[in-house]
Amino acid sequence: MRDILGYAGKTVVVSGAATGMGAAAARVLIDLGAEVHALDVAPIDAPVKQAIAVDLRDAASIDAAVARLPARVHVHFNCAGLPGPPWTALDTTLVNFVGLRHLTESVLPRIPQGGAVASITSVAGMGWQKNLDAVKGLCGTPGFAAGKAWLEANADKNNGYLFSKQCIVWYTKARAVELVARKIRMNCLSPAPTDTPMLPAFHEQAGQEFLEKHFLAPIGRNATPEEMAEPLVLLGSDAARFVSGVNLFVDYGYVASTEIGARPSLLG
Ligand SMILES: NC(=O)c1ccc[n+]([C@@H]2O[C@H](COP(=O)([O-])OP(=O)(O)OC[C@H]3O[C@@H](n4cnc5c(N)ncnc54)[C@H](O)[C@@H]3O)[C@@H](O)[C@H]2O)c1
Repeated sequence: MRDILGYAGKTVVVSGAATGMGAAAARVLIDLGAEVHALDVAPIDAPVKQAIAVDLRDAASIDAAVARLPARVHVHFNCAGLPGPPWTALDTTLVNFVGLRHLTESVLPRIPQGGAVASITSVAGMGWQKNLDAVKGLCGTPGFAAGKAWLEANADKNNGYLFSKQCIVWYTKARAVELVARKIRMNCLSPAPTDTPMLPAFHEQAGQEFLEKHFLAPIGRNATPEEMAEPLVLLGSDAARFVSGVNLFVDYGYVASTEIGARPSLLG
């Protein structure tokens, strides 16, 4: 049988592998024969090659974690994230974007030609085109310290979750274009509401009824973590070798329903 995903014997990194989609991705990748190096602030149960503690709010912690990774990483997956409250907007955007970017840029020199990066953003990042000044403001900062300083100086532009997810979309597209020269692909995935430990925080913030009315996938249920992990794994795989710069909505037709006007678009 031909292995079109091509993970057997590959070295991969998964951030946010303790729970939810990251944990599901780590397990799928192990099943596919990859050597998984997992990063999280929380304990990791999946039977990975190496579990490394990291706090994505802290550049020194990220640097220490990266120092423990192998010299060659074929595919890097960003799954870690915070939902916003009870965390501050600063912490949320540090983890979801500034830390994600620092980790990714630190791993990129170890990724060979043909490798890939795939990050989880969110349907909540949909409005990035309407917020370009702020998005380009943070994305234009040269690194972790400058990103953090920008957030501290522009607290009015950082609403936490939505802004951080918009920045992931921009960063993915901008870097995908630059990384063509190195033949490295970069993509992101926008999940619809998914049953993970994060979901209750969204219900708490926006109200479960409101969220389900406006954002539940048209199929009428939340996704499972595996229903996000598997398309994410696909984006990093050889089967997606001509796919780069894409923000893949995994929403069972949610965005399509807003695009054809069957449902109001509250974010786009
Ligand atoms: N669940 C949903 O409905 C939903 C919808 C859209 C997007 N997302 C996104 O999916 C991704 C995965 O989230 P999930 O739903 O699996 O939730 P989750 O809470 O199960 O997973 C998030 C992981 O990030 C880790 N993390 C949190 N803070 C960290 C830090 N400071 N340093 C390192 N790791 C840290 C957590 O420990 C956890 O393992 C996130 O980026 C999230 O924003 C989730």
